[in-house]
Amino acid sequence: MNRKHPAAGLPSPNTALSQLTPFKQGKSEISGVSHPIKLSANESHLGASPHALEAYRAVAATLNRYPDGSQTALRTAIAETFDLSADKIVCGNGSDELLQLLIRAYVRPGDEVVFSRYSFAMAMVHATAQGATLVIAEEPQLRPDTDRLLAAVSPATRMLLLASPNNPVGQYLSSSELWRLYENLPPQVLLVIDGAYADYVTADDFEAGSALVDAGANAVMTRTFSKLYGLAGLRIGWAYAPANIIDSIQRIRTPFNASCAAMAAAEAAVRDIAYSSHVRDYNAHELQRICAAVQRDMRGIDFLPSVANFYLLRFVDGVHTAAGAAAALESAGIIPRPVGAGGPDNCLRITVGLSHENDAVLKVLARHMNS
Ligand SMILES: Cc1ncc(COP(=O)(O)O)c(C=O)c1O
Repeated sequence: MNRKHPAAGLPSPNTALSQLTPFKQGKSEISGVSHPIKLSANESHLGASPHALEAYRAVAATLNRYPDGSQTALRTAIAETFDLSADKIVCGNGSDELLQLLIRAYVRPGDEVVFSRYSFAMAMVHATAQGATLVIAEEPQLRPDTDRLLAAVSPATRMLLLASPNNPVGQYLSSSELWRLYENLPPQVLLVIDGAYADYVTADDFEAGSALVDAGANAVMTRTFSKLYGLAGLRIGWAYAPANIIDSIQRIRTPFNASCAAMAAAEAAVRDIAYSSHVRDYNAHELQRICAAVQRDMRGIDFLPSVANFYLLRFVDGVHTAAGAAAALESAGIIPRPVGAGGPDNCLRITVGLSHENDAVLKVLARHMNS
């Protein structure tokens, strides 16, 4: 018997959802290619520290137990490694979850959230779902632009979010500019600095954000184990925030949002400083090598400077296009990331892979550009 009243309406979701489409993960397969070189998701091709893998395996013996909801061991390891206060750290299911929690805690329907143009797209989804109005500050120099960010702030602004380094370019806001941004923000605006790629940066004028957090009550830095630490599959990230903001997150965070396997692996990974330095150096060396090869052999492509684990190539000769280069790479079994609408024109984003994978990219591109 059909118990439903045909006249009754269907459950209706939050109206803000009608503006969203489900997230589509980047391509990871090429038909007919058994082991493509996937350079589309900015994953670490060196993998996680051997200590992290060992810690992950060891957790198998206690999977019947709930994780430590207070996240003490991982918070302590992060605090000791980066010389931070463990009380100001909270971990989550990727930094994505922490950005979502911050938006849920601080943004009300109708509030404005300022996004720097090349910030994390999922954070824009979270703000839209919350009923916020998104205000985009352009990045004409391909890095966050302090004056434009400040000009985008209005009395309705509750949050300002930027990625530094940004994505898909891989450029950062210098320390002095970040401080200028922070010092000129009204105190009711929460500054969220998404540092997903901060671990790769070695520049002297880079500030990841923790100094701003320690200086006041309206800045937060988010970080991830998905990139340099090679733990994207485990979903683990962290936020560094003043006590008032940590308190808000603790009120809405599910108690076991970080799994015991993810926390154990992340704790070992963050303590393995020799391994993380090796990954950072390898990435910097490969980036430099790729840049030199593109500049030497490929007139028609601009290599845009990056400090992250990916680089952006712009096709500028009026003959070759990003789409054409992407097709050439794919036909050689390599998956790059075409930059979609809203990104810089005619560009391909490519993750820094292992040396031989980067060589494969360079070979295909050189052949393509000279064809
Ligand atoms: C700029 C930026 N922020 C945040 C994230 C989220 O990372 P995760 O949720 O894996 O920590 C990503 C992932 O690619 C990113 O590119």
